[in-house]
Amino acid sequence: MNILGIETSCDETAAAVVKNNRQVLSNIVSSQVNLHKKYGGIVPEVAARAHVQTIIPAINESLKKAKVLPKDINCIAVTKGPGLISSLMIGVDTARSLAYVWNKPIIGINHIEAHIYSNWLKSQTSNLKPVKFPALCLIVSGGHTLLVLMKDHGKYKVLGSTRDDAAGEAFDKVAKLLKIGYPGGPIIEKLARYGNAKAFDLPRPMLAKKNFDFSFSGLKTAVIDVVRSQKSKIKSKKFIRDLCASFQKAVVDVLIEKTIRAARKYKVKAVLLCGGVAANKLLRKTLKRRIKKELLHTTYYIPHPKYCTDNAAMIALAGHYHFKRKKIDFWKTLQADANAKLK
Ligand code: KG4
Ligand code: ZN
Repeated sequence: MNILGIETSCDETAAAVVKNNRQVLSNIVSSQVNLHKKYGGIVPEVAARAHVQTIIPAINESLKKAKVLPKDINCIAVTKGPGLISSLMIGVDTARSLAYVWNKPIIGINHIEAHIYSNWLKSQTSNLKPVKFPALCLIVSGGHTLLVLMKDHGKYKVLGSTRDDAAGEAFDKVAKLLKIGYPGGPIIEKLARYGNAKAFDLPRPMLAKKNFDFSFSGLKTAVIDVVRSQKSKIKSKKFIRDLCASFQKAVVDVLIEKTIRAARKYKVKAVLLCGGVAANKLLRKTLKRRIKKELLHTTYYIPHPKYCTDNAAMIALAGHYHFKRKKIDFWKTLQADANAKLK
């Protein structure tokens, strides 16, 4: 069983072939980072145009690398949303055309669900123990920050989400403010390595609240205030490194505290971390340590960093589980949905 995955929800054009036993035969990701860099964020129109140019070469490359022909593909899984509508439509319409021409079943996948499934992809660092339910998923990316209770495959309950900026978005906006580049996450992480996380006393938003919602715009404002009040230091390496370290620590503290509280409340057997921000080493390591120490009956799962940021292998794998449950769409009616909900 070979599934072709296609992902174009944001600024990565991705295609992958995954064999049913979680084996990634190919994983092609064409990043548009260089196109969007100069704007310090994604420009939807620019993203859609780049997807149009790249999608067919990416699919061809994924088949070639996997050493399969279209006849060897059993099903096409494509991100239907949430995401940028003009970007999503390129992937969905390409997948619909291929499903028609190749006469293959097609499955529309929720992008957030696919991030969760990145934890099932086989990799050197993946935890090979089968995931036991209920599982708690912390999805942290450029567009989303959610805590989701996964009761079984395909059964989700959203416990909380961000009320404003997503965690990754906060990293990107702070990096733009500090003029250190795009995307902000990896750059801030690198600079934070040499900084003092205690240098600035930044807020830990929503920690006092008992719910599982997040908010990161106040933290971003706190960083703006620091920069405004110490304008002359913006060129100082130490100032930037300390501010990056303090900001990163504040984000990680909030994410981890809420995750641990939810894991306790719902007595989960597994915690699954995923999304672009899950590539962050401080988050990965600290959560691992806290779970080991405080949640003795909970297993911790994290995908390999290459499967944390947007990719199509996770789309194909989510497609595999839909296929198993016979949740299949029809090429004629499948539509992109910018606000698709996790169901
Ligand atoms: O999952 P993803 O590729 O795209 C979305 O679905 O949004 O996530 C991209 C986000 C960006 O905001 C980026 O800054 C953040 O993930 N990110 C990181 C790291 N690597 C990527 N944030 C913190 N630390 C990182 N190492
Ligand atoms: Zn994503």
